[in-house]
Amino acid sequence: MRAHVDLPLVVDRLSPVALAAQVTDQLRDAMRGGALRAGERLPSSRALAALLGVSRTVVTDAYQQLYAEGWLDGRRGSGTYVADVTIFPDLVRPLEPRIPWDPTDPFEPAGPDLLDLRPGRPWVLGYDVAAWRRAWRDAGDAPPGDTPDPRGHSDLRALLADHLRRARAVPAGPENVLVTRGTGHGLDLFAASLLRPGARAGVEEPGYRVARNVLRARGAEIVPCPVDDQGVIVDELPDDLDVLYTTPAHQFPLGGRLPMARRERLLAWARRTGAVIVEDDYDAEFRYDVAPLPALYGLDPARVVLLGTLSKSLSPDVGLGWLVAAPELLARVAERRTLLGDRTSGPVQRAVTTLLRRGDLDRHLRRMRLEYARRRAAVVETLGPLVKGDTAGLHVLVELPEDAVGPLVEEARARGVLLDTTARHHHGPIRVHGLVLGYGSASLADLRRGCAVIRELARDL
Ligand SMILES: Cc1ncc(COP(=O)(O)O)c(C=O)c1O
Repeated sequence: MRAHVDLPLVVDRLSPVALAAQVTDQLRDAMRGGALRAGERLPSSRALAALLGVSRTVVTDAYQQLYAEGWLDGRRGSGTYVADVTIFPDLVRPLEPRIPWDPTDPFEPAGPDLLDLRPGRPWVLGYDVAAWRRAWRDAGDAPPGDTPDPRGHSDLRALLADHLRRARAVPAGPENVLVTRGTGHGLDLFAASLLRPGARAGVEEPGYRVARNVLRARGAEIVPCPVDDQGVIVDELPDDLDVLYTTPAHQFPLGGRLPMARRERLLAWARRTGAVIVEDDYDAEFRYDVAPLPALYGLDPARVVLLGTLSKSLSPDVGLGWLVAAPELLARVAERRTLLGDRTSGPVQRAVTTLLRRGDLDRHLRRMRLEYARRRAAVVETLGPLVKGDTAGLHVLVELPEDAVGPLVEEARARGVLLDTTARHHHGPIRVHGLVLGYGSASLADLRRGCAVIRELARDL
């Protein structure tokens, strides 16, 4: 152990940052960066004050702050030492991340000159300004609440249950609904409340990377479950899953709609194996020229947890969704949520309550269905037989030969069109090659232009 170290500290009297804070920050940086090591002795406050030309209080304040943060170890009477911070490992070195770093994620922002045809974003400019303002006025009229109900506001839960009954024929009452901040959050609450560490979680392959990341971050072991153009392949599901995350209304990213017979088989599999199914119903409000199919939850409410969101029907920026489950499961999620100190914003809930109560959300959905039907028609018209998975939602699959995808994406980018590939959504070998084309957020004219670029580039294949 070295008895003493020389510290390259400086103080700037002209800086707006207090002198004690300057000393604290520099010492903390030195310890975090390894210039000061565990067990090393710091100068006495008197010596350091003299060295820096500051009052002794400046140094004692800095030391006290660092004691409080756990960086320093004081042995009374014998000096000030750098603490053995291995007991605070997350202060000095990153924990082993449960989610591996992925250089292709997050999405790069599109920038003003690029037309962004990547999936995941709705047409947010189509909202009714007056209805939106009214909703927020109503939210502001109520005083802030003091104790958030972990299940969400009761009037919102009743309205959401009603919405689910009408829009998705889901037999739910308020006792089945817990208000979340969106699908990813609902899945996180489910995993934190109901999954043991090491639980085997089936995730569609290719599939929604957020679902995979969330389950993994909560300690689940991910089991990739193959999908085809109709959705998850039930006959290939292993028997030892604790949970299966699936997108039956519009498989992400390939776009399949799980046929009725497969839904029945999937539920029979879950009943036989004891697995819980998490049904991500993210864009189910939008379907085109096809009859509705019942949600899995409606077919077997005891086996299925349904996750819904306003991210597609209104905007991800609102941050509101719902978890629908049997009351006993819901009670466990609610209880765990309180333990985690987690909640959904009260004012957001009140604004959404107004949108639902006044019928504004229904009207918005009706308008958006027309908007998206037009956009989807433009995509199909321009790209013809290349398009798959187009009967629902806000994105389609454009299947392409394997070696064509990279060059096409690059050339499209050079022409100002930003595209996403199926490769990004695979976690094992890439089985389906092509583009995942989002048509939610572009204007009709821009969308036609972007699709024309793709068609032109694909013609040369
Ligand atoms: C498969 C899937 N589920 C859910 C969502 C929405 O998630 P959230 O409600 O967390 O915004 C998306 C958004 O792109 C998605 O692609």
